[in-house]
Amino acid sequence: MTTSSLTFSPIPLPPSANPKYFSDFGRKVDGFDPSQMTPSQKDEIINNLYKHSVLLFKNTKITPEQQYELTHSFDPAADTYGHGNNKTGNTKSSILHPDLKTIPRQPQVQLIGNGRVPGEYEGLDSPQLRHPHHKTFHKSPVSQEDEDKGITRFYRWHIDAALYNLSPPKVTSLWAVKVPQGHTQICRYDDGTGDELPVPLGTTAFVSGKNMFDILSPELQSLAVRTKVRYAPHPYVWMSKAHALPTGLGIENEGLELDLEELPEWEESKIKTFPVCWKNPVTGSLHIQVHPCGAHQLLIDALPTGSSKENALYPDGAHITDLTKVREILYSLQRPGISPELVYPQDWEEGDLVLFHNRGLLHSVVGAFTEDQLRMFHQCNLAASDDPIGPNEQDIKQYA
Ligand SMILES: [Fe+2]
Repeated sequence: MTTSSLTFSPIPLPPSANPKYFSDFGRKVDGFDPSQMTPSQKDEIINNLYKHSVLLFKNTKITPEQQYELTHSFDPAADTYGHGNNKTGNTKSSILHPDLKTIPRQPQVQLIGNGRVPGEYEGLDSPQLRHPHHKTFHKSPVSQEDEDKGITRFYRWHIDAALYNLSPPKVTSLWAVKVPQGHTQICRYDDGTGDELPVPLGTTAFVSGKNMFDILSPELQSLAVRTKVRYAPHPYVWMSKAHALPTGLGIENEGLELDLEELPEWEESKIKTFPVCWKNPVTGSLHIQVHPCGAHQLLIDALPTGSSKENALYPDGAHITDLTKVREILYSLQRPGISPELVYPQDWEEGDLVLFHNRGLLHSVVGAFTEDQLRMFHQCNLAASDDPIGPNEQDIKQYA
């Protein structure tokens, strides 16, 4: 520990965040120089990421090669970008591709942001970047009048994951190269709760999957540890015509998903079925990790023998294929975990490097930029060499 010279301290929280949920969440790391990283520093960073979910390094300079090296050290057997690198026409209708520009000499690193980059940048010829705007995705976006007053939304709560064929990356790294200054915005939930959250312009919002699990009632925790989510094949193509809820936490039930026959060719064996709760490899904690937009079906196990059935949800188990019901159940498990006091909105400054535990939290793009506001980030994650692990026997005994 003492040899690596890194120090870890709590990240500063905004007044909206309730500190009781953040004692373990988020650490600022000092003493790290990406050009001099040592194996022991990498080990310490990996260990701390699993314990604290978000690591923030200020005033960093990191090349795409170094960013790849650091990200890769979490999963040495992984090598390709989290969504794969092949832009072979068959997934071009996916909703993700327009937002990504690949850095040619290090294709696992993407340039993301907003505005047109002047001139050549990292081998890209004046790339045009686009910050996703919720009005392109939400069913009922904020009115222009409200947007002019600085009202915004969570764009889409998610895990960085292809959710088909490839396994969810363990970590994502985000390095802020250019951050436009602007006014605080108000992120509105617009789900009838009146919830809202002041956010820095263009924040990335994070919520802990562990908090999401810990705050649930025993009945919902029992359901969470017994449930698996089966994702649609090519989920981002499947949902490409659908619209999101105003919270960005899932899809409206409008029947706009493509029929499975309309999708690009897919194989049963490549469909992903993941537990609702993913077990943290260092702490053993359970994190609710569901990408609600891509969820297609739920597989619920019956209560284990000997558990009390009193108040239990689905005590005999179930296979839920009705999409409305699937979404309703997931929303009941996830909505409590995104309430304003549980959100950490990163207030980006140029030179910030953030590593986040992609298997331990959900995150969302927030806010809206004007065309002339230039924002540039380097993002890297790698499709993992294994799938996440769910609750073990002990967890089932404790919570089911
Ligand atoms: Fe993301």
